[in-house]
Amino acid sequence: MVFTVKEAKSVDFSQIRQEIRDLQSKLVEWRRRLHQKPELGFEERITAELIHQKLQEWNIPHQTGIAKTGIVATIKSDRPGKVLAIRADMDALPIQEANEVAYRSQHEGKMHACGHDGHTAIALGTAYYLNQHKTDWQGTVKIIFQPAEEGPGGAKPMIEAGVLQNPDVDAIIGLHLWNNLPLGTVGVRPGALMAAVECFRASILGKGGHGAMPDQTIDSIVVASQIVNALQTIVSRNVNPIDAAVVTVGEFHAGTALNVIADSARMSGTIRYFNPELESLIRDRLEAIFSGICQMHGADYELNHWQLYPPTVNDRAIAELVKSVAIEVVETPVGVVPECQTMGGEDMSFFLNEVPGCYFFLGSANPAKGLAYPHHHPRFDFDETALGMGVEMFVRCVEKFLGNC
Ligand code: NI
Repeated sequence: MVFTVKEAKSVDFSQIRQEIRDLQSKLVEWRRRLHQKPELGFEERITAELIHQKLQEWNIPHQTGIAKTGIVATIKSDRPGKVLAIRADMDALPIQEANEVAYRSQHEGKMHACGHDGHTAIALGTAYYLNQHKTDWQGTVKIIFQPAEEGPGGAKPMIEAGVLQNPDVDAIIGLHLWNNLPLGTVGVRPGALMAAVECFRASILGKGGHGAMPDQTIDSIVVASQIVNALQTIVSRNVNPIDAAVVTVGEFHAGTALNVIADSARMSGTIRYFNPELESLIRDRLEAIFSGICQMHGADYELNHWQLYPPTVNDRAIAELVKSVAIEVVETPVGVVPECQTMGGEDMSFFLNEVPGCYFFLGSANPAKGLAYPHHHPRFDFDETALGMGVEMFVRCVEKFLGNC
């Protein structure tokens, strides 16, 4: 499947300062080194080692081994001031890469198919630039290299390890390279950007028997089918139609033979929504549907329901700041896209629940170069021109939020 995005804008870099343009070849080199050595969540040892080596080489104080493989670098300018955190995730996915590029994955069955190699390279470039220009801004920047965004989630254990304290972080920003948007654009909006991710697994426990004698059984398939249908009423009848939500049953397993009534049925699914207030409504409806329908048929059930990530919600003032920076970097307000919400989820949400901040999308698709496959696709790749734009975005956000001298 080829993802269709409108034409990418040719970036002339005129708004990207010379020192960052000069970094471009390094950004590409680091990104490609990381791309060749993709590592899954909490296993990012080669990745962490590269980051550690670079930070050491540049004399940037940093702490390693936070939440297993996470790293936090602290860059103090020459003047005291506020503290801004920049977050980059660094894990890859269990996907076999199908690209035939020189820098293709050397790890069998693993691939940077979401662009986190780029996020790490951008964060390194930002650390390098800010450290070189300590007299140009004030305050402190903490750069958080986070493991395991793809699951089970590295943000929460990093917060629990105290990465937002000492010095205390006033605000946090982060970006995702985004192939749903063309190169030369930035997706940013106040409020919810990405959805809450919830999961459920359930078993319907009926009573099996002969396919010709249903009166002697409790047919778990009939009961479970009614539950699948009823679950669709959560979005269509219970959620305010102004709020967006999704309930998907992704797995349904039951039965062993055509003339046997199944003793039990299993299903699992995912639930997505933006409005944090929907959490309890959806949980209550899920429980009521399972218990009501099972009771009606005399069946039992086991239901496990848990939230993986809360919704990713941006602070209004900081989103406005990022938007103003984006207009400077992409040179035109047309390149700043507020219609960029997605039902995908992100554990950046845990950071944004602790301190105000903004997560934004940096357009990275370039269909003319064949770089437009969607995230998590075995042919995913992005236009590396976006790497320098990412550094420019972060550096300008630092100067604007903390103040330049
Ligand atoms: Ni991602």
